Amino acid sequence: MRNETLHAWVKKVAEHTKPDAVRWCDGSAMEARSIEDRMIADGELLRLNARVPHSFLHRTTPADGEDGDRLSVVCTKYEDDAGPTNDWMSPEDAERTVWPRFEGIMRGRTMYVVPYLLGPAHSSHNRFGVQITDSAYVAASLRIMTRVGQVALRQLGASPRFVKGLHSVGDRSPHRRFICHFPETKTIWSLGSEYAAHAILSKECHALRLASAEACEEGWMAEHMTIFGLTSPSGITRYMAAALPNGCGKTNLGMLTPTLPGWKVETVGDDIGWMHVGEDGRLWALNPLAGFFGVAPGTNQKTNRNVLAAIARDVLFTNTAVRADGSPWWEGLEPLADGEMLTDWRGRAWTQDSGQPAAHPNARFTVSARQCPTVGESFDAPNGVPISAILFGGRRTKVAPLVFETHDWAHGVYTGASLVSETKVAADGSGGILSNDPMAMLPFCGINLGEYLRHWLRIGGRLSRPPRIFHVNWFRTDADGKLLWPGFGDNIRVLEWILERTEGRGGAIQTPLGWMPTRSELNLEGLDIHPDRFDELMSVDARAWLDEAYRNEPFFHQFGPRWPERLEREHQALIERLRAA
Ligand code: GTP
Ligand code: MN
Ligand code: MN
Repeated sequence: MRNETLHAWVKKVAEHTKPDAVRWCDGSAMEARSIEDRMIADGELLRLNARVPHSFLHRTTPADGEDGDRLSVVCTKYEDDAGPTNDWMSPEDAERTVWPRFEGIMRGRTMYVVPYLLGPAHSSHNRFGVQITDSAYVAASLRIMTRVGQVALRQLGASPRFVKGLHSVGDRSPHRRFICHFPETKTIWSLGSEYAAHAILSKECHALRLASAEACEEGWMAEHMTIFGLTSPSGITRYMAAALPNGCGKTNLGMLTPTLPGWKVETVGDDIGWMHVGEDGRLWALNPLAGFFGVAPGTNQKTNRNVLAAIARDVLFTNTAVRADGSPWWEGLEPLADGEMLTDWRGRAWTQDSGQPAAHPNARFTVSARQCPTVGESFDAPNGVPISAILFGGRRTKVAPLVFETHDWAHGVYTGASLVSETKVAADGSGGILSNDPMAMLPFCGINLGEYLRHWLRIGGRLSRPPRIFHVNWFRTDADGKLLWPGFGDNIRVLEWILERTEGRGGAIQTPLGWMPTRSELNLEGLDIHPDRFDELMSVDARAWLDEAYRNEPFFHQFGPRWPERLEREHQALIERLRAA
């Protein structure tokens, strides 16, 4: 069946961008080989050694990827629909100023047309997109991150309902970079970057920014969340979803290796969750993606052995270093030999005396989720999994305790809306710069964030068995800047308490923030943590929280009448509880 909308669009783009060749991707293994061979010949990919079979390294230009969120604009008819936290451009202005920049941009290059499916095949919740790109690296990444080719085309049929993504690396100049999102016409234009979030348009651009707009209209949710299942030693399985800002532990949490005996984790997703209200009144979540695009630095046997197993073969690495034997390396992987010489992410000779990291701090691996030992059957479940708990959390060296439970859905939404994370550590070590990042969606919400929060409240009204909502923080430090909590696999101790709470068990004490476990309620067996340090980890300083609540006010009130009155009531109630404390 020929899709006329699709063919007309591809023709229009090809006439405008003038590639030397147009190549439709079918998703076959043969096609993958030929794209790889071509990239190796062009020097775009480096084949890694046989210790990681069929794996490659790609290096982006050094300045790429650092400022993308600032270059991202939402193009809606009315500026208010993009809201105060997004940069806005009118569709007419985009048409007039950005579209001409694509003229002739693919001359001398091949244009890849990649149809993709978001969500499991045969799910009524899945969505389609077609990305045009002149980067073979991006086409290869899309093949891993989504279900591409025939599987998508067959299900799309003749429907005009798909996202049109146009991407060109252009001249890679940081001064001519744009990412335009058009929620009203389901279109994305990205120019000048090869960095994944800006180039693999199916991910942040489609599965979050455009999907959040569509979801709000249609009554579902597109969230920046990892989704995972937890099976207790007694055999109870419950699913959870966690929204943590970029670089705050989603991938690690979704695949954790429990340090408590008898516990099992199942990974459903590591970055994005699409959620629906089920007929049973529960919230169901699925992973629209098919692959992981994870942070390499810090990944090792101890922190995440599941991901290490997943990336043992068939991986596309980006901006890692390479050892002399041709295997990839990054900070935190394993110690190097004395004086060992590496090639750093820029392709230069590097030793431990070089004074700079060998891998880019945001070096990544792109790998099929299927290769992860903790990925199971639920990964392809058409309706996803029922969510018992939602976790919000940021990187907080101060103030935020290890865990607390909110009172109900509205209080949970308020807590998510108040999410704050440290982005950078100040030079004097006095802690990080705090930024508001509601539901970890600030950079990814394609609509007015005030409207997005209203949507959360509306969804809650439709849930007869809503998940409980928690706040977590793995990053609190003592006065010397030392972490108070071991994190990673030991986070199972917090998850166990959360699971108990969702089952109506698990003791807790009331604090101004919500419900918190006492030391005896958390399973700390085998953990070497001094009672004083535990108390420090769990302490709630009412004064500091009050300051924080006041500091949040300008952020909340910038949404004007879109800031939900229900959340304002939660805000005032929190202030009262803190004052009384
Ligand atoms: P994005 O993919 O950018 O959205 O990041 P992410 O949320 O998936 O974060 P990821 O799991 O890749 O972790 C980011 C950083 O936080 C890494 O350096 C991890 O080592 C570190 N990290 C993750 N979990 C923990 C934890 O429980 N404790 C501590 N101390 N660090 C953690
Ligand atoms: Mn991640
Ligand atoms: Mn992310």
